[in-house]
Amino acid sequence: MRVLLCGGAGYIGTHVALEFLERGDTVGILDDFSSGLRENVSPKVQLFEGSILDSNILDSVMGYEWDAVVHLAAFKAAGESMLDPAKYAHNNITGSLNLIAACERHGIRQFILSSSAAVYGEPTYLPIDEKHPTVPENYYGYTKLAIEENLAWFAKLKGLRYVSLRYFNAAGYDPRGRMMGMERNPANLIPVVMEVAAGIRKKVQVFGCDYPTDDGTGVRDYVHVTDLADAHVRAADYLAKGGDSLVVNLGSEQGLSVRQIIDVAHKISGLPIAEEAVGRRLGDPAKLVASSAKAKEILGWQARYSTVDSIIATTWKVYDSVGKNR
Ligand code: WQD
Repeated sequence: MRVLLCGGAGYIGTHVALEFLERGDTVGILDDFSSGLRENVSPKVQLFEGSILDSNILDSVMGYEWDAVVHLAAFKAAGESMLDPAKYAHNNITGSLNLIAACERHGIRQFILSSSAAVYGEPTYLPIDEKHPTVPENYYGYTKLAIEENLAWFAKLKGLRYVSLRYFNAAGYDPRGRMMGMERNPANLIPVVMEVAAGIRKKVQVFGCDYPTDDGTGVRDYVHVTDLADAHVRAADYLAKGGDSLVVNLGSEQGLSVRQIIDVAHKISGLPIAEEAVGRRLGDPAKLVASSAKAKEILGWQARYSTVDSIIATTWKVYDSVGKNR
């Protein structure tokens, strides 16, 4: 299979590339390197540098005849999207429509979207399945929902078939240690905690200790990036076999609190992790946990690396080596 990963140099895309390469597929990556890391791009991929906002570049890259496009090219900081919605509208919505239009021009009808649990907003019941109402709390989540809605229209009008993968909290690094570049300026809990353990950052701020959860801190469903990557390969095979358009959640179905993450990070690194209790972060729900029953049933997907120990240990391997080399 020939698969083009747009945004394939990012944290999730580089892991997705490994999974396709592993089984002998031909992988192309189109990335503008606004946040992607060259050191994490396998030399086995065909690399194109440019943005999905540029139709000329899309036309030239799509001339290489891809069976499927995987779209991972988006800004993803929910907090920032509330301060600068225009930036997110341009890159995430305009960029995606540009990409979808280019796929149509070039007859590419199999499309996999990197979507997000952020489309659901504040949960009205748990675990969250795909029938849960989609009322995003932040503009970032809205952009993902807008892309999904457009894919549904292009499916109806133009014969596109797509799989939208709604990730919960992506975390972890390649268990075989092939990915050693860290994300720049992370805002997510696990990389922040790892930076503290590695001595890159002084302390982790715990956003809220008064949530209605067992220990008062926020609970999330952390899913290993290698499990997410595996779901993309399954989605591509599903579409190649003629499967209908599909929206699925990808989560471990386990809720872990901020406190539990800090404790496991301390246990695995053997290092102190300084913390400071601060107020809640705007727009943060108390608890998010997925039901991934649909991904299991239709894609045969199952989380294999998403235990908390495996997520923290694979991440610590990267941060520990960088910390030591500073
Ligand atoms: C996890 C928990 C925080 C940082 C985000 C996006 C979402 C999706 C996944 C892409 C929460 C707490 C965090 C810190 C903390 N992204 N926390 N101190 O917000 O659940 O989801 O990533 O699709 O759209 O919003 O992830 O890692 O930021 O937070 O206490 O310095 O850790 O309050 O309870 P979040 P996160």
